[in-house]
Amino acid sequence: MTLVLGIESSCDETAVALVTADRRVLAERIASQEEEHRPFGGVVPELAARAHAERLAPMVEAVLADAGVTLADVDAIAATSGPGLIGGVMVGLVTGKALAFATGKPLWGVNHLEGHALSPRLIAPDLQFPYLLLLVSGGHCQLIAVDGVDRYRRLATTIDDAAGEAFDKVAKMLGLGFPGGPAVERAARAGNPRAVPLPRPLVGSGEPHFSFAGLKTAVLRAVQSGKYETADVAASFQAAVTDCLADRTRLALQAMPEATALVVAGGVAANGAVRAALEALAGKYGLPFIAPPQRLCTDNAAMIGWAAQERIAAGFAPEPDPQARPRWPLDPNAEPARGAGVKA
Ligand code: KG4
Ligand code: ZN
Repeated sequence: MTLVLGIESSCDETAVALVTADRRVLAERIASQEEEHRPFGGVVPELAARAHAERLAPMVEAVLADAGVTLADVDAIAATSGPGLIGGVMVGLVTGKALAFATGKPLWGVNHLEGHALSPRLIAPDLQFPYLLLLVSGGHCQLIAVDGVDRYRRLATTIDDAAGEAFDKVAKMLGLGFPGGPAVERAARAGNPRAVPLPRPLVGSGEPHFSFAGLKTAVLRAVQSGKYETADVAASFQAAVTDCLADRTRLALQAMPEATALVVAGGVAANGAVRAALEALAGKYGLPFIAPPQRLCTDNAAMIGWAAQERIAAGFAPEPDPQARPRWPLDPNAEPARGAGVKA
C-alpha cells in the first residue's frame, strides 16, 4: 500500500500528513499561525516563512511517531510547490527535497489548487470525473470543470477579489478580527440577512465570472453610515456573497451538462450558508453535492498527499526538480478574465 508524506506551507498553515492510496489519513498535524498574524490583521509573508521553518521538521517527526511508522515506510514525499506565498512554499518544498534526497524516495511538487480540487475524492470514493468544482478560498474564487487528474478547465474566475478575501476585509471593517471568515459567520448568526441592502455583482449576467469589489465597498459605506448593527451587516454580507456564488455556479452547471456532481472546496467552503445554498442548487439539477469536512476545506497536508496519490494512480511521473512558484494556474489555457488585478 503506497504511503505518501504530504507537506503544506503555502500560506499560514504548517501541515504534515501521512496518506495511503486507499484513502486513510494515518496521522495529520496542522499548526495555524493565527496568533503570529493577528496583530497585523492579515498574513505577513516573512513571519509566515519563519514560522514554517521553525515548525516543519519537528512536525514531520511527530506525524511519523503518531502513525507509528518511520521514513523507511514512506514511499513518496509530496510538498506544495505553489501557488502561494513564495517564502513559505520554499520552506516546505526544500524540506520535501531534503527528505527525498536523504531517503532516496521520489518527491512530488504538488499544485496547491490541485490539492483542493481533488480533496473531495479523498472522502468520497464514489465521486467520479467529470465534476464541477467551486474553489473558494482566501486567494481564489474559481469554477473548474474537473475532467480528470491534470485535466482542468477554468469556467470562471474573479475579476477582482476572492470571496475569502472579501470575508477577511469585511471582518476587519467590522472589527471582528482575524481570520475573518469564521468571525463573520459567527456574527451573522445573530443578524438579519435582509437588514442591509447590498448589491450582488454580476448576478443574472451571462458573463461567467465573479466580482466582490463593489460589494465590499457597499459594506464599507453601510458600516460608515452608522445605521446598522454589526450582526446585521455580517448577515447581509454573507447572504450577498452566497447569492453571488450560487448564481455563478448555476451558470457553470448549465455550461457543463456532463457534470456528475457539484463539489465545493477551499476555506470558504467551511461556511454553512454557502454550503446550504450550493446543496439546494445541486438538488435542483439532480446532482449529488459534495463538501469535504471543515479540516479538509481549509489548507491541510492530507489533500497534498492525496493529490500525489491520485497522480501515482493515474500513471504520472513526478516532475524532476520542482521549483517554488508564486503563481501556478490549474488551467494554463484559461483566457484572462476582464479587468486588472486578475487572480491566478
Ligand atoms: O483555503 P484556505 O484555508 O487558504 C487559502 O488557500 O486561501 O482559505 C482561507 C480563507 C480565508 O479567507 C478565510 O476567511 C476563509 O477561507 N474562511 C471562511 C470560513 N472559514 C474560512 N470564509 C467564510 N466562512 C467561514 N466559515
Ligand atoms: Zn488553500
